[in-house]
Amino acid sequence: MNSDAVPLPPRRNGRDALPEMQPSPFDAQAQARVLVVDDEQVIREILSDFLLMEGYQVLTAENGRAALDVLAENAVHLVLSDLKMPQMGGLELLESIRNEYPEVVTLIMTGYGTVETAIEAMKRGAFDYVLKPFKVEEVVHTVRRGLEQQRLRAENIELRAALSLYQLAARIGDEPDLDRTLSLIVDTVREQTHADRVSVILLPDEDVRWEGASVGEGEPLTEHDLTEAALGLHGAVLANQGRAFRFLRGSDTTAEVTSLLMTPLIGRHKLLGLLLAVRHGGRPFIEGDRKLMTIIADRAAAAVHNAQLFETLERTFRHTIEALVTTLEEKDRYTAGHSARVADFAEITARQMGLDEDFVELIHQAGRLHDIGKMKIRTEELNKPGPLTDEEYERFKMHPVYGEELLGPIPCFREVLPAIGGHHERYDGRGYPRGLEGLKIPLMARIMAVADSYDAMTSHRAYRSALTHEFAVAELKRCSGTQFDPVCVEAFVIAIEVWREARAAAGESYPR
Ligand SMILES: [Fe+2]
Repeated sequence: MNSDAVPLPPRRNGRDALPEMQPSPFDAQAQARVLVVDDEQVIREILSDFLLMEGYQVLTAENGRAALDVLAENAVHLVLSDLKMPQMGGLELLESIRNEYPEVVTLIMTGYGTVETAIEAMKRGAFDYVLKPFKVEEVVHTVRRGLEQQRLRAENIELRAALSLYQLAARIGDEPDLDRTLSLIVDTVREQTHADRVSVILLPDEDVRWEGASVGEGEPLTEHDLTEAALGLHGAVLANQGRAFRFLRGSDTTAEVTSLLMTPLIGRHKLLGLLLAVRHGGRPFIEGDRKLMTIIADRAAAAVHNAQLFETLERTFRHTIEALVTTLEEKDRYTAGHSARVADFAEITARQMGLDEDFVELIHQAGRLHDIGKMKIRTEELNKPGPLTDEEYERFKMHPVYGEELLGPIPCFREVLPAIGGHHERYDGRGYPRGLEGLKIPLMARIMAVADSYDAMTSHRAYRSALTHEFAVAELKRCSGTQFDPVCVEAFVIAIEVWREARAAAGESYPR
C-alpha cells in the first residue's frame, strides 16, 4: 500500500469548511496522521488497515529516506518505524525527526528486542517501542498514548504562547501609528510562526491609502500576488505545496513558497486586509501555527482599525486647521503669507542649529500655526491702521493663549503647543503672556520669536511699510540677549543669507 492510495477520512463539518485545512493532532485523535515506516510491505499493510479502522489517517514509507520525503510534504503527527531498514534505518530517522520535526512523536518497532537497542532509541527521542512480533492492539494502544502525550505537550505550548501573545497584543493595542502597528504585527507573526516571510496587506478604502508591511527574505507580498479566493476568505487557512497557489498567483515573488498561512483581517465586520506568512522549503506550517495566526489576527485587525480611524481623524484635524490658517490670513490682510514664511524661517534656523529632522518638521508645522489664536481677535482690531487702545492691546496679547486653547485638546498638535504659547516671550523675561525668561522659554518658541520678528519687520504692516533686510538683521542682532536668544539669532543670521541667495538664484522674491 503506498501513501497515495490511502483514503483520507471524510471531512467533518464546522471548521473543516475552511479550505485546505490540515488535520490537527490536538482536536481529536481520530484525525491524527500516522506515518508507518517498514521495509516489509505486509507489515505496512496490516498496520495501515488497523490504524485506518481506528480512524487515523495513514501514510507509509519503506525506509527512513522515503519517510523524510513524506514528512517534508505532509504534516504528520506520529511516526511508527521499524529499526532495521535498507537506505536509512530507524535510529538515523529518529535523529532527523528530532532535529527537524520536534513536534512529531516517534515509536519504534524492533525485532532485536534487546534492552540496549530500546535504550538507544529512547535516547534519540523515541516516545516508546514495541517488540516484534507485535499484537496489533498493543501497537494501536501505544500510538494512542503517544498522541495523548503530544496533545498535552501542545496544550502546554499553546498556554505559554497565549501568554506571550497577550503581552504582544497589549503592545499592539496601544500603538496609534498605523505604520508602527503594521510592523509590530509582522514582527510578532514572524517571531511566533518562524515564517521566512510575513506580510500584511491592507485593502484600499476611500480614506485609507494602499498600505502594507513586510518582513523576511525576498520581495514583500502585495495585493498583486493574491487570487480572488484569498479575498473571499472567512478564516485562517493553512495550505502546503501546490495548494498554496489557490490563494497566490504564480510569480517571481511567490515562486519559493512551499507553505502558506493566511488569514483575513476583519475589523467591525469589514475586510481590512490580509495577513500572510510563508515558508520557503523546510518544514511546512502545522495546525498550531494556524491557531496562533488566528489569535494574532484578531488583535491585529482591531489595532489596524483603530490606527486607521486615528489617521483619518488626524488628517481631518489637519485639514480643518489649515483651512483656519488660510481664513486667518484672509482676515488679517497685512499678514498674508506670514505663517508660511515664518514656518520656512523657523525651519532653516532649526536646521542651521543642527536639530534633528523630526524637530525641524515639527517647527515648520508650528510656524504655520503660531498665530492661530488671532482667530479670536476681532477683524477690525487686527487691521487697525493706528495704535491699539490699552484694552485692545491686552486682548491682542492673549492670542498665544487662545492658540493653545484651540489646539490643546487635539493630540496631534500637542508637540507644537510650546511654540504657539511662547512665541512672544522675551529672552529677558519681559515678553507675554507669561513673562518666561531665558532657557525657561521652550526652544521652539525662542526660534519662532526670531523668525516671526524678522518677517514682521520685512513685510508691510497695518501701521508701517516694510523694513529692509539689512535693517531687520541689525535689529535682531541689537536685541540679541535681551529680546532674543543669542544662539537662535546667530543661527538665523547665517541661515537667512543662504536662503536669500537660493531665492535670488531661483528668481523668487525675498526681502531686500
Ligand atoms: Fe504672534
